[in-house]
Amino acid sequence: MGQAKPPSASLVDTGLVHAHGLASIVTLLIAATFGIIVSIQLLLPDFGSNVAWLSWGRLRYAHTQGIMFGWLGNAFFAFLYHAVPILTGRPVTSRRLGLWLFGLWNFAVMAPGWVLVLAGVSQPLEWAEFPPIVDVMVVVGLGLAAIQFLPGFFARGLESLYVSSWYILGALVFTLLAYPMGNIVPEVVAGASGAAFSGLWIHDAVGLFVTPLALAIIYFVIPAATGRPIFSHFLSMLGFWLLFFLYPLNGTHHYVFSVIPMAAQMGAITASTLLGLDVLIVVTNLFLSLRGTGFVPRDPALRFVAAGTLFYLIVSMQGAAQAQMAVNQAVHFTDWVIGHSHLAMMGFASFAAAGGLVHAWQRIPWAPYNARAINAAYWLMTAGLVVMVSDLTIAGLLQGQSWQAGAPWVESLEVTRPYWLVRTLSGIPLAAGFLALLWGLTSGPRGAGLREVENGVGVEPVAEVAPRLAIASSTVETS
Ligand code: HEM
Repeated sequence: MGQAKPPSASLVDTGLVHAHGLASIVTLLIAATFGIIVSIQLLLPDFGSNVAWLSWGRLRYAHTQGIMFGWLGNAFFAFLYHAVPILTGRPVTSRRLGLWLFGLWNFAVMAPGWVLVLAGVSQPLEWAEFPPIVDVMVVVGLGLAAIQFLPGFFARGLESLYVSSWYILGALVFTLLAYPMGNIVPEVVAGASGAAFSGLWIHDAVGLFVTPLALAIIYFVIPAATGRPIFSHFLSMLGFWLLFFLYPLNGTHHYVFSVIPMAAQMGAITASTLLGLDVLIVVTNLFLSLRGTGFVPRDPALRFVAAGTLFYLIVSMQGAAQAQMAVNQAVHFTDWVIGHSHLAMMGFASFAAAGGLVHAWQRIPWAPYNARAINAAYWLMTAGLVVMVSDLTIAGLLQGQSWQAGAPWVESLEVTRPYWLVRTLSGIPLAAGFLALLWGLTSGPRGAGLREVENGVGVEPVAEVAPRLAIASSTVETS
């Protein structure tokens, strides 16, 4: 039996899903290219050494900011344009506002942000490297996003919100508050206190922007693609509140063994441990909701989010462990941390984002869709990620061992070189996977995604089986 469209699907502005979706993958390809160049420069330090904009520091800024704002930001907006009308039963605030948000995010944040950091104009703060003028644009963009996506949730009333709606509300409101804190306070508060605020933002960027929106996607795609409700609404809500309570307390775990007061360090270590427990609750609920779909689900969007869920579990257990002093002492400043970051941003967040994108794309009746290319994207990205993260994790352990043994610094570099080569080579399947994703969403017959859904894993219309999604749809039917 085919999977019927929820009535509110007709409220989705597919043009804006499409525009942000394409922008996300184009920026991903550019940001990944920066990553590949910086990885080559670690092997060949003279590569590009006489070209200022090719210097390592500038390219690294361009890589990480491009990933967060260009790829993940656009992919999240694409998903929100699909999901918010279904969750609220009404369209987003305004199409014109959507065009402004798209233009601002890509041409007043991303493009000038990249040009300025590559020209050497930046802010030397982690996860806040775009200069202050671009920060202003980010805050305006986040404000526009709040106006565009949030009013429908308030109109609906908090009683009937599905868990994805809570995560969307939390992400957009908290990021709007945390972003100015992380970008302004460390500039005016000197020394270790400023660093403490910077650490808060480093973790808020991941914990209050990236993680909630990735989880909103996973919680949305699972019932919509399987045709079954989430296993437990209670566990969903427990996970949500624990995440928003604990994540903001985590930031200082970036500065274990620093001059920041030990009580603050201990608080962050405790919060990190509890956050690990929260993730166990969330992931248990998600895996129970996925039961019966197989280790590699047939629906490509579901496959991406299922893999993202597994990576979320691994990266969070790793994070809770590396906040502990004994582990932190062994891995801090090593490539272990870089492996952890890629597992979080590429494994968890990007697989969720790709799942949200593919899910939304399948439901655009006029969009080209190439199932083979999307299948290839999944396998190439998985292979590249597993190789990269395993490689960096081992490299990190070897570096830490060498430093703790008191060996000369250069020895740890010699130990690391082969691993850096493998990391660069792992960029090949990854970049090929991103290209395949772009190819999958821009080639193939128009409407092929919808036909795939109709013949796919879902056996009942989601509006009938996922009660909290159904509330949204039924209101539209009766209004
Ligand atoms: C395509 C292949 C990629 C390569 C070769 C690559 C390489 C690199 C390199 C060399 C660094 C700097 C590491 C250091 O400071 O020593 C880096 C940092 C980073 N990259 Fe990538 N990258 C790639 C793709 C990605 C993607 C797709 C994402 C996320 C979706 C990502 C997220 C990050 C993050 C979060 C950092 C900061 C790590 C930290 O400071 O802890 N990278 N990457």
